[in-house]
Amino acid sequence: MADAPSHFRKVEDLDPARLLAVLDRADELKATRVAGPRSDLAGRTIAMIFEKPSTRTRVSFQVAVTELGGSPLPLSSAELQLGRGETIADTAAVLSRYVHGLVVRTFGQDRLDELAANATIPVVNALTDEEHPCQALADLQTVRERFGGFAGHTLTYVGDGNNVAHSLLLAGAMVGLSVRVAHPDGYAPDPDVVARASELAAASDAEVVTTTDPVAGVSGADVVYTDVWASMGQEDEAEARLAVFEPFRVTAELFGHAADDAAFLHCLPAHRGEEVAAEVIDGPASVVFDQAENRMHTQKALLASLLT
Ligand code: CP
Ligand code: NVA
Repeated sequence: MADAPSHFRKVEDLDPARLLAVLDRADELKATRVAGPRSDLAGRTIAMIFEKPSTRTRVSFQVAVTELGGSPLPLSSAELQLGRGETIADTAAVLSRYVHGLVVRTFGQDRLDELAANATIPVVNALTDEEHPCQALADLQTVRERFGGFAGHTLTYVGDGNNVAHSLLLAGAMVGLSVRVAHPDGYAPDPDVVARASELAAASDAEVVTTTDPVAGVSGADVVYTDVWASMGQEDEAEARLAVFEPFRVTAELFGHAADDAAFLHCLPAHRGEEVAAEVIDGPASVVFDQAENRMHTQKALLASLLT
């Protein structure tokens, strides 16, 4: 029987050493991009299935595959028989006969995991309701660029304990970046993820903290990070969440509690005036467009690691 393919279904599909190696390779790929296209993925086709909208992930993966000499094949589930009831298992088995890798954005992690379990090619999580691991790779690259390393630094995520928060907790804890999550009551990250991140942090000499006090959470942080208050699939809750999340808006006042040289990160898309004030995201501390660019470099490094 052939070896099981190497997937990136969640942050912990990489161990800390491999995660750091992906970040190192991403730095190299970023520095050498001017040299032009490469041949790492020559002759390989990477299919991408999006069951939710996407700007950054879709475009950065397509460009990443193209610049590594491969062929991206963007698909939407509405165009596939998957949208008419073909099983995930059959879809995975069939696509495995045509293409060399699958990048998938979907709803429940169970859908992604079932696809991976039935695929004989690497499957990459391009966002599920539970995790956004590719985002976390770019976030770490951005933090390291800005601060030169992770040890002794703290990132505070302010807002909903969602997919982005989960992947940041786990990835930060793996590399020794302390992560705090400041969230409204009732919107904490999954306690299992927090417990696992705490275990990983104990091994990397970092700390994991959750709090319902935004000022305490942000105090002295090197990085302040936020995300939308209602994620894709939670549109019905958006209105009700506005009042609950109001004290967690990253205003200039809240950001002022962070370290003097603190950076602001946001996975984007952003809603100015909701989770973040325009003066913060458009201000001098914001590195959100470096962060968005780094999606492409880290995803190139990830694909090269999984497929070559
Ligand atoms: N940050 C992120 O994943 O953006 P998209 O939804 O545009 O892909
Ligand atoms: N938490 C957001 C992230 C978007 C990139 C969502 O899932 O919609």
